[in-house]
Amino acid sequence: MAFVRNAWYVAAYGREVDGAPLVRNIAGDPILFFREPGGRLAALLDVCPHRFAPLSAGTITAGTVQCGYHGLKFNASGVCTHNPHGKGAIPRTLAVRTFPVVERDDLIWLWAGDPALADEQRVPDCSFLVDPQRRTLSGYTRIASSYRLMVDNLTDLGHAQYLHGSNFATDAFGQLRRLLTVDRDRVTASLTIPDGTTPAIWKRLLDFPDQRVNMWLDTYWFAVSSLVTVIGIAPVGTPKEQNVNTKSAHLLTPETETSHHYFFSNSRNFRLDDADVDQMLLGWQQQALVAEDAPMVEAIEQRSGVANRYGLTPTMLACDEASVRVGRIIEELLAAEAAAAMAF
Ligand code: FES
Ligand SMILES: [Fe+2]
Repeated sequence: MAFVRNAWYVAAYGREVDGAPLVRNIAGDPILFFREPGGRLAALLDVCPHRFAPLSAGTITAGTVQCGYHGLKFNASGVCTHNPHGKGAIPRTLAVRTFPVVERDDLIWLWAGDPALADEQRVPDCSFLVDPQRRTLSGYTRIASSYRLMVDNLTDLGHAQYLHGSNFATDAFGQLRRLLTVDRDRVTASLTIPDGTTPAIWKRLLDFPDQRVNMWLDTYWFAVSSLVTVIGIAPVGTPKEQNVNTKSAHLLTPETETSHHYFFSNSRNFRLDDADVDQMLLGWQQQALVAEDAPMVEAIEQRSGVANRYGLTPTMLACDEASVRVGRIIEELLAAEAAAAMAF
């Protein structure tokens, strides 16, 4: 499976595990989340070590899960605490794999790889999602494509001119300037579209008079598949620092080779208490992300077989530079993990 395992992935929003337990497939693994009575979050591989029944089909009481097949009990650390069979001996192999989790910024992050390598410092910073100076609207959709295709999508926000053209097109697209910076596991792609017409969505959101605007579209990619995008706009002559903007998290979590979870949010620095703006932006998320981006990457996924059959490889244009650099880093991370596994 082509997943980078030593990485933090968003597993859920905090509220999703406050009530009933949750099972979510992450990087090929079914994971069971539940809270201990004190509130601490447990993340266990949803496979009973006895005969591999899903633990989630059992019952959870007071921080202990009892398998619904033969009644073994496990605590939140995956340790078997009760064997109702024979003399009740507990062989050491009767332990459930657990995963490191971090709860931060209303998100639950899961480390999918070697627990010894889990470094909380490397959880991507999404603190803007809970910034009281901003208003954040979040959503989720499951997408039937490799997460890599959505990374490609988000590393070139210029696609908005076409795929989201009804909301986002501007007459200055031809003046678009690109700036790319590449660090070890971080890529920043900044687009500037100077002196253009105001895209339709911004006209609605801001009640702008008809005027020329500068627009900035910045994408920050954090290995492996967490992205933050900042889209700002200001009348020509106003400095970038004074723009109005939406800052969005696009947190992609591989599920299978051909599906991923998409946790998205939109956090704005204007008209914070305006319910109409909330409705417009929720509508924008549904249209742009769920009704335009998702079907596009799913259709590409469906065509990957025929593309292979015809020996097609993607043609790289100026708009692909960031996604190429990101793709290269992901390949390096995959190769490093494969080499480490071989050595082991
Ligand atoms: S499979 Fe879980 S107790 Fe037997
Ligand atoms: Fe898009």
